[in-house]
Amino acid sequence: MLEIFEPNREFSKNARIKNMCEYKELRMQAEEDFEGYWDRLAKEKIDWFKPYDTVLDESNAPFYKWFDGGKLNVTHQCLGRHLTTRKNKAAIIWEGEDGKKRIITYLQLYYRVNRLANLLKNQFGIKKGDRVVLYLPMIPEAAFAMLACAKIGAVHSIVFGGFSADALRDRVQDANAKLVITADGAYRRGKPYMLKPVVDEALKEGCECCSKVLIVQRNFEEIDYVPGRDYVYNEMIMNESQHCDPEPMDSEDPLFLLYTSGSTGKPKGVQHSSAGYILWAQYTMEKVFDVKENDTFWCTADVGWITGHTYIVYGPLAMGATTVMYEGVPTFPDVGRWWKMIEEHRINQFYTAPTAIRLLHKLGADEPKKYDLSSLKVLGTVGEPINPDAWMWYYNEIGGGKCSIVDTWWQTETGGHMITPLPGATPIKPGSATFPLPGIMAEIIDENGNPTPKGEKGFLCITKPWPSMIRTIWGDPDRFAKSYFGDCKKDGKPVYFSGDGAMYDDDGYIIITGRTDDVINVSGHRLGTAEIEAVLAHHQNVAEVAVVGRPDPIKGEGIFAYIVLKGEEDSIGEEIEMIQELNKQITKEIGNIAKLDDILFVPGLPKTRSGKIMRRILRSIAKGEEITQDTSTLEDPTIVGAIETLVNR
Ligand code: WTA
Repeated sequence: MLEIFEPNREFSKNARIKNMCEYKELRMQAEEDFEGYWDRLAKEKIDWFKPYDTVLDESNAPFYKWFDGGKLNVTHQCLGRHLTTRKNKAAIIWEGEDGKKRIITYLQLYYRVNRLANLLKNQFGIKKGDRVVLYLPMIPEAAFAMLACAKIGAVHSIVFGGFSADALRDRVQDANAKLVITADGAYRRGKPYMLKPVVDEALKEGCECCSKVLIVQRNFEEIDYVPGRDYVYNEMIMNESQHCDPEPMDSEDPLFLLYTSGSTGKPKGVQHSSAGYILWAQYTMEKVFDVKENDTFWCTADVGWITGHTYIVYGPLAMGATTVMYEGVPTFPDVGRWWKMIEEHRINQFYTAPTAIRLLHKLGADEPKKYDLSSLKVLGTVGEPINPDAWMWYYNEIGGGKCSIVDTWWQTETGGHMITPLPGATPIKPGSATFPLPGIMAEIIDENGNPTPKGEKGFLCITKPWPSMIRTIWGDPDRFAKSYFGDCKKDGKPVYFSGDGAMYDDDGYIIITGRTDDVINVSGHRLGTAEIEAVLAHHQNVAEVAVVGRPDPIKGEGIFAYIVLKGEEDSIGEEIEMIQELNKQITKEIGNIAKLDDILFVPGLPKTRSGKIMRRILRSIAKGEEITQDTSTLEDPTIVGAIETLVNR
């Protein structure tokens, strides 16, 4: 049984939710009057241009509508409404990897966003509903661009800078985007790295929809310019007016798309709404991080992921907080970089991923002692299960044993936190995301839709809609309905399947056990095994391929590929060459984040008689586990032994 840590009493006294009674009270309110609960929140939190007619429209489930009939603009929520009370407050504190610093106040941010919004409208003809792809490093302009799109009602789709030209092209095409906003590059590990050449490569063919590229100069390295297509942000932005009226948006108008991996080959463009999304971003920011007016909040994610969307930009700004943005890696110039930043900026809430905690623990367990981290009040983690060892180090060495750790479970599709401790209320346990937030109806069920008993793994589901949920998969509503909502119903309504496994421990705490589908989680990045397999199968010498995740002490999971080659390939030299070629292919088609950790050339794959690859067996072999499963139903049972011999070679 794992130890339970009570919240710090002093902290609880001033927290927004002070104890479990208050938490339970809110939960009960949501259970007893579901719509009333959300209605109150939406009225209290959002500065509406026009009030909504209905709270929740379930008539076309699972295509739910929240706050239908209402009008708002997310940038008014994040900027405009703060100008009376916070105009000179720091909205964004940015630190470049090279040590450069920028502080942008709410008023400055408001003007920047307006100028860019005008530029998008006037120079690039971007209108409400148009899609704009952002391929940007971690610079304030990434936030300006998101908000400028939101201001005029354009839909942004951020593509993480680690994705390759091919992956970027797919996303530009799928969204039929009109414009790409990028940068020359930025700094990483002390050196400049480039983004613009990747955009050039991506737009080379098949992207007729996108005729313009706007380039932010960050590292001022030399780049090629395509006349008539490429424009420099730094030169154009000052010519635009700093006044721009926000476009009145319907509650359900899409705010952004964000592509994520699923269990089939093609990434899904997760579509989020305006009102429901911003409501939950703000609410969770307030309740889960308990950020106060003078606090400084730092989320280390990249804006290319949902965590960066909700907890670097939209959540903090919606509540009028100060958000920190950092450009580079945690290990530059040394492994104390982040702790130094916490000391210098007097960070109060710090939110990061288990993979980073494990890395910094391994590389510099005593490093935090060199810095004054006493400003910290709340620590957070996200993206993957955190192992108790890493949790304890985080708790003791970073938090000094006085900060709650909010282990937040959520997904690109959920828009914001779903299952998480509340720092002033929830007694926490290493490795547990604890309990659902009030209003979030989470259940763990078995294959037949029945709740699982304590200690037994099941599927983590959400049985009622919530405001910040995914609205659809861009251009593919059928896939949306099929991917997330099976046949299972509760009170006649479809149930949302998260794709994660979970269980209740003896105390009723929720433990997330990891994905139950063919998605793997490498350093907190979601990758579909089918996506990686499709790339590998393109190689002319590959006959068959199966990819599985294998536990990795730092990355959480590593990528293990089993490959059957066409014809004979038995010399080690040829194998090494082949490994290099396959990794090159992965880097080209997906990006470095999907590089293979291990490749095993095998004579065949374990398949059932109907031809289905038995991935469970492959996962066990990759882990080095003994095979206990029944292999007699395989088409060729001897293949398992043959693969095991190769692994142990
Ligand atoms: C995993 C990131 C355990 C999970 C916000 C989920 C977690 C996937 C946790 C979503 C957590 C996220 N504990 N696992 N606290 N948080 N996950 O879409 O498998 O990039 O389905 O969103 O990360 O990843 P995504």
